[in-house]
Amino acid sequence: AGSFIIAIDGPSGTGKSTVARRVAAELNAGYLDTGAMYRMVTLSVLRAGVDPVNDTAVVNVLEGLNFSSPLSPGHQTHLLDGEDVTDEIRGQAVTLAVTPVSANPAVRAWLFDRQQLLAHSGRMVVEGRDIGTVIAPEADLKIYLTADAAERARRRHTQNVGATVGGGLDLAAVAQDLERRDTHDSRRVHAPLQAAPDAVVIDSSQLALPETVAKVLELAAARG
Ligand code: C5P
Repeated sequence: AGSFIIAIDGPSGTGKSTVARRVAAELNAGYLDTGAMYRMVTLSVLRAGVDPVNDTAVVNVLEGLNFSSPLSPGHQTHLLDGEDVTDEIRGQAVTLAVTPVSANPAVRAWLFDRQQLLAHSGRMVVEGRDIGTVIAPEADLKIYLTADAAERARRRHTQNVGATVGGGLDLAAVAQDLERRDTHDSRRVHAPLQAAPDAVVIDSSQLALPETVAKVLELAAARG
């Protein structure tokens, strides 16, 4: 199959991952979670005892980094040096430290090569913050998925309650964490979170998940 790329970007808590996976499953395409890659690097940094804001020290961790990037829209198992860290990369320690690590230009450059390669490995749905702008500006379809802040916090909180990680945070704390990450992601110098000029913006505040998925599939069908 030739390459066909759907880029899905947007802030945290919009349901981006769920939408991306469902779209990929419907289209029999692969699914790349670039946020998980930033989280894997971050976990390595923490495990190496390196300060996540020390850009130079963080770069040293990249050497010898060995993690998997699953491409299945079904259950994904993330392996770091062969160890299953699927839950740990969603935990609070990684979620806090991923902000400075993903603002590090050397980390972004290192992941850029890998993400570009995987994005072009067939029919792919690629999810992140800079897919339409940096990783795959030539994507066949670019979606910028957003929702108002209160709704995003509510969704993420509900998701956390049902999960084994990220629990313990009340709604206000979840809202605060999303606000913290999105502000940093939007204001950083390198590949800030922003909609590509040719992205289709979908505000999912008033949409149920299947409606958002249907909208993306409709747009994808129109692009062939
Ligand atoms: O998508 P997820 O919330 O797992 O991403 C975690 C963090 O990784 C984001 O808050 C952002 O700082 C960073 N990220 C990024 N560029 C991407 C994907 C994620 O900077 N393409």
